[in-house]
Amino acid sequence: MEKSEWIWMNGEFVAWDDAKVHVLSHGLHYGTGVFEGIRCYETDRGPAIFRHREHLERLENSAELYYLPLPYGADELRGATHELIRRNGLRSCYIRPLAFRGYGEMGLYAKSAPVDVIVAVWSWGAYLGDEAKRRGVRAKVSSWRRISPTGLIPHAKASGQYLNSILAKTEAANAGYEEAILLDEVGGVCEGSGENLFVVREGTLVTPGHTASILDGISRKSVIQIAEDLGYPVVERDIARSELYLAEEAFLVGTAAELVPIREIDDHPLGEPGEITRVIQARYEDALHGRVDEYLEWLDVVEQPSKVTT
Ligand SMILES: Cc1ncc(COP(=O)(O)O)c(C=O)c1O
Repeated sequence: MEKSEWIWMNGEFVAWDDAKVHVLSHGLHYGTGVFEGIRCYETDRGPAIFRHREHLERLENSAELYYLPLPYGADELRGATHELIRRNGLRSCYIRPLAFRGYGEMGLYAKSAPVDVIVAVWSWGAYLGDEAKRRGVRAKVSSWRRISPTGLIPHAKASGQYLNSILAKTEAANAGYEEAILLDEVGGVCEGSGENLFVVREGTLVTPGHTASILDGISRKSVIQIAEDLGYPVVERDIARSELYLAEEAFLVGTAAELVPIREIDDHPLGEPGEITRVIQARYEDALHGRVDEYLEWLDVVEQPSKVTT
C-alpha cells in the first residue's frame, strides 16, 4: 500500500510507521472492531469526502450494535479526518476510520479494555481496477453463505465479520474470478464480498432489500437515488440465484470498488456492460467528483490550505 505521512490515533497525529498496537490488543484476537471505508475525491471545490456524515453515522451504529463505546463523536472524527487529509497533502484518498478494543483485558467480556480509535488516509485506486470499471468483472457465486442475522449482524461493518467476506473472495480469486457473490442460507442473493449488487430485469433495477443480510451500503443508497432521478424504476426485493444468470445487466457498487459492471456470473455471459449500467455509472462518477449540482450536498469539502503547521 502507498504510505502517507501521518495517521490520527487516539486524538493525536502520529507518524505512519509509529502507529502501532500491542500484540495483546483485544481486537487482534477476537475481531472486536468496527470500521468504515470512505473516499475523498478531487473536485473543483477542493478535496471532497463523499457522504462523510453517513459513513460516520454508520460507524457509530456499528459500534453501538457491538457494545463498543466510542470515545470520539462524529464531529471530532470529521474534524480529525479533514486535518489528516490536509497534513498529508492529499487531494484524493481512501479513508479508513477504525475503532477496536485495545490492550488491557482478555476474555470475551472485556469491558475494561479501552476502545482505541484511528483514522488512516492513503492513495488507493479503484479496488477492482479501472479495467474492471470499463469492461466488467467475472463473478462467481460463493460456496460460503453470507453471515446470517441469526448469528452476527450483517448491518454492522465489524472487523471480525469480514472473515466471511475473505473466505468468499479467496475462493473466487483462487478459481480465477474477480469477485464473489454471496447467497443467504436459503439461497437468496445478498451481495458481493465488499459491494452491494444490482441486476436489471425487464428494464427494472432490482437489488436485495434490508432483510437480505446485506450491508446497508452508502453507494447502494446513492445509486438508487441517482437511478430514480434518471427515471429508471428501482425495486428492492429478494433475488433468486437464477435471476443472476438471466439478468439483462448486473453491477456491483461499493466505496472501494465504485460502480463495476458484471460481465459474467458462474460462466454465464451477461455480455458487455449494458446501457442502463453505463448511464448510471457515468452519473455516479460525476456525482463522486462533484460534477452534478443536485448531488453537491453529498460532498464534505476539506477546506484548504491548512492553518496548522507541523
Ligand atoms: C460487505 C459489504 N457490502 C457492501 C459494501 C458497500 O458499502 P458502501 O457502499 O457503503 O461502501 C461494503 C463496503 O463497505 C461491504 O464491505
